[in-house]
Amino acid sequence: MSLPSNVVKDMDKRPSRIGSMFDDITPTYDRLNLLMSGSIDRHWRKRTLDMLDIRPGDRVLDIATGTGDMALQAMANNGGDIVGIDLSRNMLQTALSKWRERRKDAPYPVLQGDALNTPFRDGSFDKAMVAFGVRNMIDIDGFLREVHRVLRPGGRLAVVELSIPHYAVIREGMIFYLTKLMPLVVRLQKGDESSYRYLCDSIITFPSPEVLKGKMAAAGFTPLEIKELTLGACHIYLLEK
Ligand SMILES: C[S@@+](CC[C@H](N)C(=O)[O-])C[C@H]1O[C@@H](n2cnc3c(N)ncnc32)[C@H](O)[C@@H]1O
Repeated sequence: MSLPSNVVKDMDKRPSRIGSMFDDITPTYDRLNLLMSGSIDRHWRKRTLDMLDIRPGDRVLDIATGTGDMALQAMANNGGDIVGIDLSRNMLQTALSKWRERRKDAPYPVLQGDALNTPFRDGSFDKAMVAFGVRNMIDIDGFLREVHRVLRPGGRLAVVELSIPHYAVIREGMIFYLTKLMPLVVRLQKGDESSYRYLCDSIITFPSPEVLKGKMAAAGFTPLEIKELTLGACHIYLLEK
């Protein structure tokens, strides 16, 4: 696939940089997400949770928990003891205040930290999930090995991530949307243009589903189900340790 000439290929994904970028965009994150995706991201998260099938009592790690939408939705489905981890303090604070508004009854411990190097013991979780976080990781292989380590044998990981569609017309349409229309929406909403520019470039340069599947297998995961959604704009990977 040829990339638009203005896309940055060697992106700076150092955790300190990613954490502070998400700290900066936290105030506009939920609103812009809704505007830019037309709320389809909610449907993608729901499909991911349906596939992961969290049961009451499951110990679940929500990686890159962000403003907590996966954790909140999982709790609404009545499942699991959820722990969130994220680099960004501000995103976590927003997650906790949303959590307090909606779920006073259940705990939602969160940790500010790097998903590539967590403090959890081997085999501590039954399930793990990561929504729209993997493309920000500096080392996808290292990330997958770390999740593999903290899951128990037979434990499951669900990954949902944006992708560039395979079919030329749809692919060009998505690239046009990301590089031309989205910056306009961000400008109108007074969002941080350079951060959203990074987010677009990170989608365009993210490894294809085929490459990703190879990395997942190399980390020791068995794919149980891989779903292409919305004409290839999003993929969900359900994996087993
Ligand atoms: C696009 S947001 C997605 C948040 C949330 N999962 C959602 O569905 O809206 C990406 C999140 O990943 C977090 N993140 C990126 N790299 C990370 C890493 N190495 N470890 C932990 N969190 C990370 C960012 O701080 C940010 O909150």
